[in-house]
Amino acid sequence: MDNKKILIIGASHHSKVLIDSFLSSGGRGEEICGYLDDNTSLLNKTVNGYKVLGKIEDIEKFKGKVGFVLYAIASIKFIKKKEDIIKKIKNLGFKFYTIIHPTAIISNQSVINEGVFIGPGVIIQPGTIIKNHVTIYSGSIIEHDNKIGDYSFIAPGVVTSGNVSIGKGVFVGTRSCIKNNVQIGDYSIVGIGSNVINNVEKNKLVFGNPARVIK
Ligand SMILES: CC(C)(COP(=O)(O)OP(=O)(O)OC[C@H]1O[C@@H](n2cnc3c(N)ncnc32)[C@H](O)[C@@H]1OP(=O)(O)O)[C@@H](O)C(=O)NCCC(=O)NCCS
Repeated sequence: MDNKKILIIGASHHSKVLIDSFLSSGGRGEEICGYLDDNTSLLNKTVNGYKVLGKIEDIEKFKGKVGFVLYAIASIKFIKKKEDIIKKIKNLGFKFYTIIHPTAIISNQSVINEGVFIGPGVIIQPGTIIKNHVTIYSGSIIEHDNKIGDYSFIAPGVVTSGNVSIGKGVFVGTRSCIKNNVQIGDYSIVGIGSNVINNVEKNKLVFGNPARVIK
């Protein structure tokens, strides 16, 4: 097995960001070998410097040939599908790559799990746990003793206060703020520019200042 190859799932704008952070970090000796993407018009085309090698379902052909998978599809509507795709890929025995941009400040008393992306300028404070396959975009501040659940997406410039708990598959929109001790339930969406001051149940859409439940 060539442990140094990384296969990217999704040839999108999000992959452009991930590749840039990967290259900025200098990697750990790994190299990107290309993408899998379900948009068949991209097959054999070069996107952001790397070739599209097949559809996502072709992943089995890469068993034993790549060391890591980098999941690079980011969309509010795609979070549950992200979970399904990642579970299938994991069941095939693939490992997922974690990227931390070199300008991120990460407390060594925090825990960062597998397949996580942490973008430029992010701050992660002590006691915080970032679970598997979480994405944290540029400039977000995740304060002390937070828990961010699997697959969740934190857009740019989000600020969470201390002891915040964000469930699995949650989307937090750009420039939102979350009050200390607030809990946000699984698969909920926080709209752009919101101030969340109360707990949010599972599967809710909230936005505004203060954030209200919309549906
Ligand atoms: C909350 C959100 C998901 C709703 O999207 P949507 O279902 O397509 O809703 P629409 O954009 O059609 O907006 C519906 C209404 O809610 C309002 N609205 C939407 N999001 C809002 C927000 N965050 N704050 C206040 N009002 C908002 C709209 O103005 C519109 O009002 P109107 O009916 O009076 O015209 C979307 O607005 C949002 O915030 N997305 C996150 C964007 C983001 O952070 N991206 C990061 C990418 S890195």
